[in-house]
Amino acid sequence: MTAPVAIEVHDLVKRYGGLVAVGGVSFTVCQGEIFGLLGPNGAGKTTTLEIMEGLRRADAGRVIVQGIDVLAHPRQARALMGVQLQEAGFFERLTVAETITAFGRFHRQSVPVPQLLSRLQLEEKARTLVENLSGGQRQRLSIALALVNDPQVVFLDEPTTGLDPQARRNLWDIIRSIREEGRTVILTTHYMDEAEELCDRVAIMDHGTITAIDTPVSLIQTYAPGAKVFVAPHRQEDEEQIGQQLRSLPGVAGVESNGNGEITLLTGQLEVTVGALIELGRNGEVHYRSMRIEASNLEDVFLKLTGRRLRE
Ligand SMILES: Nc1ncnc2c1ncn2[C@@H]1O[C@H](COP(=O)(O)OP(=O)(O)OP(=O)(O)O)[C@@H](O)[C@H]1O
Ligand SMILES: [Mg+2]
Repeated sequence: MTAPVAIEVHDLVKRYGGLVAVGGVSFTVCQGEIFGLLGPNGAGKTTTLEIMEGLRRADAGRVIVQGIDVLAHPRQARALMGVQLQEAGFFERLTVAETITAFGRFHRQSVPVPQLLSRLQLEEKARTLVENLSGGQRQRLSIALALVNDPQVVFLDEPTTGLDPQARRNLWDIIRSIREEGRTVILTTHYMDEAEELCDRVAIMDHGTITAIDTPVSLIQTYAPGAKVFVAPHRQEDEEQIGQQLRSLPGVAGVESNGNGEITLLTGQLEVTVGALIELGRNGEVHYRSMRIEASNLEDVFLKLTGRRLRE
């Protein structure tokens, strides 16, 4: 972490009655990075974000954005922030351009509408009613609104949920370009591929606490090093017996069934394990129909840290 600190979060706590939605969360975000909060539904991501944005009161803790205490000076802090809410409420009967203009009026300074339309690839939709936008266009509009006050720090709550793969990639490019302008981006997601591809650093969040924070590569190296080899036996009934045989291959740290007729080998020494596996096949000791290899990912990290999958 060489860049200056943009955001400091100290020991945030938020309870709803007996439920601890956020149970003592601390982290820092550097200027010009894309920082992700990754976790399943109900992990406390939105609650954390909205406290940082000054939209919800914390029961305890402090948030400092660009040196300003958000709880003590919410107006001053909010002038530095751009906010995209998880549930964006639009006026459906306004056009895209009218919506941006209307939101710009809430701020002391605002970016010219044509600039935002072009920035978010919405020029052709300027006169379209919001109710007639596609899901991806709505998301782009909500990001335009988050940029309307030319903020230093941009908060995006699940920016790509519900979008098709192409629209997601398009939004990722837009979010990267926000970083290229020197702004700091903090986003939430429950997509591990989004966190892995887009975020410079990721905080893994579960049940209101952060269990690990690092770059995606370091998280994987620390918590789920190695790779997975999926082996499909010729005959389903051989699965258990072959699983036993494969357990003793060199480098294998674990053997699981993935429920799709494949045996999953976890290995820290991919070349050695696969070499031995091929040798077994060549000798005719094991017959398998297919073999495929996948590098570990943040899903494996989450599984290791929490004992559960991100999406169950
Ligand atoms: N206003 C509220 N009143 C009571 N409980 C709430 C309120 N807002 C959130 N919660 C609860 O707090 C917990 C965390 O919710 P939060 O919305 O922060 O999760 P999240 O990680 O953003 O989930 P999702 O991925 O579904 O958006 C959940 O159990 C939720 O039901
Ligand atoms: Mg949420």
